[in-house]
This record gives sequence, C-alpha cells and structure tokens, in this order.
Amino acid sequence: MPSITEISCKPYKDQRPGTAGLRKKVTVFQQPHYLETFVQSILNTVDLPANATLVVGGDGRYYNREAIQTVLSMAAANSIGHVIVGQGGLLSTPAAANLIQKKGAQLGLLLTASHNPGGPDGDFGVKFNMENGGQAPEHLTEAVYQASRNIDSYKLADIPAIDLDRSGTVNAGDMTIEVVDPVADYAELMESLFDFAAIRAMLAGGTRVHFDALNAATGPYAQTIICDMLGAPADSVANTVPLEDFGGLHPDPNPADAPHLVELAMSDAAPDLIAASDGDGDRNMILGRGLVVSPGDSLAIILQHVRCAPGYASGVPGVARSMPTSRAVDQVAADLGLPCYETPTGWRYFSNLLSAGRIGLCGEESFGTSSSHAAEKDGLWAVLFWLNMMAATGQPVADLVHSHWSRYGRTFFQRRDFFIPDTDSAQQLMSELTAAVPAMAGRSAAGFTVNEADVFNYLDPVDGSESDNQGIRIHLDNGGRICVRLSGTGTSGATLRMYLDRHTTDADEFGLSPDDALAPIAATGAELARITEITGLTAPTTII
Ligand code: G1P
Ligand code: ZN
Repeated sequence: MPSITEISCKPYKDQRPGTAGLRKKVTVFQQPHYLETFVQSILNTVDLPANATLVVGGDGRYYNREAIQTVLSMAAANSIGHVIVGQGGLLSTPAAANLIQKKGAQLGLLLTASHNPGGPDGDFGVKFNMENGGQAPEHLTEAVYQASRNIDSYKLADIPAIDLDRSGTVNAGDMTIEVVDPVADYAELMESLFDFAAIRAMLAGGTRVHFDALNAATGPYAQTIICDMLGAPADSVANTVPLEDFGGLHPDPNPADAPHLVELAMSDAAPDLIAASDGDGDRNMILGRGLVVSPGDSLAIILQHVRCAPGYASGVPGVARSMPTSRAVDQVAADLGLPCYETPTGWRYFSNLLSAGRIGLCGEESFGTSSSHAAEKDGLWAVLFWLNMMAATGQPVADLVHSHWSRYGRTFFQRRDFFIPDTDSAQQLMSELTAAVPAMAGRSAAGFTVNEADVFNYLDPVDGSESDNQGIRIHLDNGGRICVRLSGTGTSGATLRMYLDRHTTDADEFGLSPDDALAPIAATGAELARITEITGLTAPTTII
C-alpha cells in the first residue's frame, strides 16, 4: 500500500471557475499547492461513490503531463478505484466526454485551457465533468470555489510516476490505472453516426479536404479518421503532432487567429472543404472555396440537412443556441416546427437539455457545435457532418451555404471584442449599461431606435435552476440585435464582447460582407454602451 500524506496548505482566493473550468497562466498553476488545492476541492465537493472511476486527459499543452501525475497520486490518496488516462496524457474534450459515459465514470478531469495559447508563458486549465460526460453545472463549480476558499490540506499518495506512453493497466495500491488509446472509442462513435462509405466514395472521386489540427489535440484523431478510415490522401491533414506550445500557433480556429486558412480558402488552390479545430478539439471552423462559414450558419445548415447523416435519420427533438449566437438556426427550427432554446454562453448550459432529450443539436457563435452524441462540443464531429452533407447532396460547402440563404434568408453575424486592461472600468461599463436597460426602449443612437432591451436571466427548463446576469440583449427597430457581455475565459484584464446580428431576405444584400452589413448597428451598440467614454477605446481589438 502506498503511504498517504496529508499536506497542509493555505487557500488561494482566485479559484472560481469561469465559462469553462479554472483557467489561469501556467505560472499561476505552478505555484506551490495551486493545482492540488483545486483538485482536492473538487474531490471534497463532488459526491463520489466508493471506488469511483475517473477519466483524466488533456490537450497536450505545457504542464499537462506533470499535472496528470499529480492528479494520479491525489486520486490514489482519495480512494478512487479506477483511473482511465489517455495515452501520452492526451484526450480531446469530446473524446473525454465520450469515455466518461462509455466507461461509466463518475468524474472527468480535463486538463485544458481550450483555445488559449500554450507553452510556459501561456495558459493552463482544469475542467471537471460529471457522469453524463458534460461539464459540472454552475451550482457545483460554485460549491468547489467555496471549498477552495476554505481548504487547509490535501492528500497525496506516494506512488511511482506512471508511464503515460505505454498502454495497458497498472496498479497503484488499490487503484488501477488504465492507459488507453485516446482515439479508438471516439473514432468508433463517429463511424456509427456518419455515412463513412459515402464520404469515402466522395473522397475517392477527387473531392479534396484540408484539415488543420494546429499542432493540438485533434491531430491523431484527424489522422486516423480522415486519412486511415476515410481514405483521404496524407496531405489532407496538417499540423497533426500535438506540441506543448502548439508550435507557436494560436490554437483557436477562427478567421482572425488562423488567417492562413482564410487565405487558402480564397486562393485558386482552395480544396472543397477546409477546416480546423482548437487546442482541445471541441471547436471547429468550416471554410469552403471563397468563403468562411459563420458558426451560426453552420448550425442552421446542419439542422436543415440533419437527416442525411445515418445517426440522425429520424431527426432531432429540438435545437439550442447560446444567447449571443446568430438567430439563423431559429428560422430553420421554426420551419421544421422544432423548439429552439436560448441558453447562456458556455457549453454546460446545453447539458440538461441534451440529457433530458429536449434537443439533439446545439451550437455557439464561438465556433462550437455538437449533438446528443456527446455532452461537449465537438470539432471533428462538425467537420464530418459537413463531409456527410456534401456526400449526400453532391454540393460543395459554398453551394450548401448559398442555397440555405436563398431558402431562409441570410443572418449576418459579427462579434466585436474590446480588450480592457483595467477590469474595474469593464465592470463599470457593464453596471452602467445594466442600469440603463429598463429605460432603454425608445432611445435612439446612431440612427436606430431601441425596440426592447433586457438583461438575460436564464431559467433552466429541466431542473429549474436560475442563472442571472448572463448578458444584455438590445433589439433595434431594423430587426437587428446587439448583445453585450464580459468574457469569462480570460486570464488577465477583461474582454467586452459585443455581438451583432441582422436577418435579411433581400437577395441583393446576400453578397455584403458582415462588416458592411453590421457597421451601422455596431455604431449604435458602441454609443449605447458608452465604450469610448468609459474605456477610451475607439475601435474593437478583434473582430470575428
Ligand atoms: C468563450 C466563448 C463561449 C465558449 C467558451 C469556452 O467564453 O464565448 O461561447 O463556451 O469560450 O470555449 P467567454 O470567453 O465568452 O466567456
Ligand atoms: Zn476548446
């Protein structure tokens, strides 16, 4: 039996999880006892049965391997019975969610800071997921935070370092540790959902794909599924070896952070589908020849064609999008007579709807889409859905998008991020805007009048839990909508996110750029939120 040591520690006061887990600079996690106090707070708070099963893995970023060894010795000291770890310490977030469910685990610890930069000067993070595979609900993350504020000790078992690169099972005292192939179960799940034979035939017929794993977690998954199983040529996948610093790339699949993919899409050499995923494999970006597919359009188009994939042949019971996500999917849901739920930002709010069978498809504007097959968003799943739609309809990406617009109209969408180094002025802006909401209807700014404004408070229809202050929604007299909220995933300063959308059925407008289509209401948003007066910023830091 390994000896167990109880180590005294002082609480850190900054371990409140954000939109998706606790995310901090690597240097913060490297402080003495920092990771341990958070993990012990989780183990103290979550009600685990004796001999519980835990799934552990991460996106391969710097500090991943070290953190896994710490988690293993803490698990052994805290009476966990069985731990399943991805070989090499690797598990993409959707693959981890799948393993938790498939293996009947009660808890998952996902070591990832998602799309945030990696390396010694980058970010690290810990998310914890529950037995349905999905992220812990807000009341639990809050309870863990409260526990972390009072913690005074944690437990470590004296076990040898585990060889994470060798698959198989080893014992550490009474606990067994199973090192598993991170790809196999996930690949099998994908094969059960999509028409691999049709996609294989399409690729054999010369349809070209380019998937960029951005040196992050999805590399081995893409290699196995896209090349080995679907038969795409080897050069169809790029940057497939997960690196601790992502090779210096920003592992966030969006046009601003992956401009090389936009360039490829706009070039004569553009393949039929271009795609990328983020650090931990839960986000996706889809591009076609000459166009970037907006995530809101992607969700709407997947819903429109949902029955073409064998796993969805009988349709879906409903759909959900996060509040700021473009309302394109609302049009399709209404047409199909399906409920369309609006949830706060953050994937965890979809979990209850998915588990209760109210929805089968959901998505966020931040390049996240998924379905009832996983309790997390899933980057490669979305890429495979697009390939399946292409194989089923014979249409390339661009044609699928244009025919969607002709049928339902186009919803322009843009997110404008303002980085505000001083968090106090960001808080001030939000409180002043919130205070102005009740009297905002009827006010005019930069040429438009506010029809209606509110603070988005969410009542979960499944368990009745309430999540208040999830952002501000402003509806304008031209049908446009402005949403404003603060990011909950940053590790320094504050980021104010302003989301703009506007629907049009005027085909003459379809060719407009989102910038041109939305600039007028962006001016209204900036004036109503008093961005320049309060922060001094005259333009967004990033437009996505
Ligand atoms: C961001 C996105 C949100 C996503 C989250 C985790 O959170 O906006 O949609 O769920 O990352 O990937 P935010 O920084 O806006 O709080
Ligand atoms: Zn992610």
